[in-house]
Amino acid sequence: MDKKDFAEKFFEKYGNRNNNPVLFFSPGRVNLIGEHTDYNGGFVFPCALNYGTYLLIRKTEDNNLNFSTINFSDDFKTPLSDLFINTGKKWINYPLGVINEFLKRGIKLSGLEFLYYGNVPNGAGLSSSASIEMVTAVALNDFFNTGFTTLDLVKMSQKAENEFVGMNCGIMDQFAVGFGKKDHAIFLNCDTLSFENVPLILNDYSLIISNTNKKRGLTDSKYNERRGECDKAVELLQAYKPIRNLSELNTGEIDQLEKYIEDSVVRNRAKHVISENGRVIEAVKVLKENNLIRFGELMNLSHDSLSYDYEVTGIELDTLVYEGRKLPGVIGSRMTGAGFGGCTVSIVRKADSADFMTRLSEIYQQKIGVTPDFYLPEIGNGAEKSDFSL
Ligand code: GLA
Repeated sequence: MDKKDFAEKFFEKYGNRNNNPVLFFSPGRVNLIGEHTDYNGGFVFPCALNYGTYLLIRKTEDNNLNFSTINFSDDFKTPLSDLFINTGKKWINYPLGVINEFLKRGIKLSGLEFLYYGNVPNGAGLSSSASIEMVTAVALNDFFNTGFTTLDLVKMSQKAENEFVGMNCGIMDQFAVGFGKKDHAIFLNCDTLSFENVPLILNDYSLIISNTNKKRGLTDSKYNERRGECDKAVELLQAYKPIRNLSELNTGEIDQLEKYIEDSVVRNRAKHVISENGRVIEAVKVLKENNLIRFGELMNLSHDSLSYDYEVTGIELDTLVYEGRKLPGVIGSRMTGAGFGGCTVSIVRKADSADFMTRLSEIYQQKIGVTPDFYLPEIGNGAEKSDFSL
């Protein structure tokens, strides 16, 4: 949406054209490799997209918080309070959860008007949730001069999602959305939170995101069950080593799992996490060496492990990935995000990109009966104030 149109919607909603709102933007993210490792203290390699959430925000003289979005029809208005509780209105819980984190830290807010607009598809594994959380956090930090660091805002947003929304996510999404850097991916150690921005140079290739158009419904999904299975594995592995998380084991120790974990399901979950960490480390290394072919192979291996050992894919994701890989110019394809639906990410030769999308769309429609969507994203910066003059 054009900035002028967005501002027009703001004034239609809230009036008072003499007082301009301020614009903030927060990206969505795509994870290139390193899935279901973040809450296991492991490695991830996501990047921020040029798709995301825009927020126009303005202070008011009264004591009300007014929320509205271009994406849904339900608005919400509430007087300021010391602490909020879950509203039952899904999208409003994300900003409200973040506001709570500010209130809990003793920040005094004033009345505010919010208008959001998101162009990252919801529930598609591209972090629309982290995006709306972080855009809110960055805006409040700026408006009330609260001086929180990006890392503080990332942690506050994750907390909002864990405790207010009730989704027990790891830190990857909020981190990627907060620390994204144009044309770079983020190699993040989710245990220590140390990270490195690695240039994502794809030369004759491009990233293509394919959307199954099957919504994940994360909170209802098996996400928390997987977390529980990983905790179980850590518990059983205490007999082998005093580890805090699965990422303290390396790929050379995968052979040990058989001895300590009898349940093959729990064992396979652990195997995925440990092997995935190994793949992320290698993927970053080969990317730095410009070896995209190997990078693509590692993406493929990652998906296979998520499909067979971690079991978070499903027919829609598997169809896009396995059919996509057969097409010319594809060097890697995998699911991205939590899984159970949502999106895949593929590296495809630029010259073959258009055919890839046409063919894959046909095959997917034939097999699944749904039309997929495709995005050719640019890699952008993290959440920030946007230049915006009316
Ligand atoms: C979701 C969660 C992340 C991460 C991924 C899987 O996106 O929000 O924290 O666990 O799933 O890698």
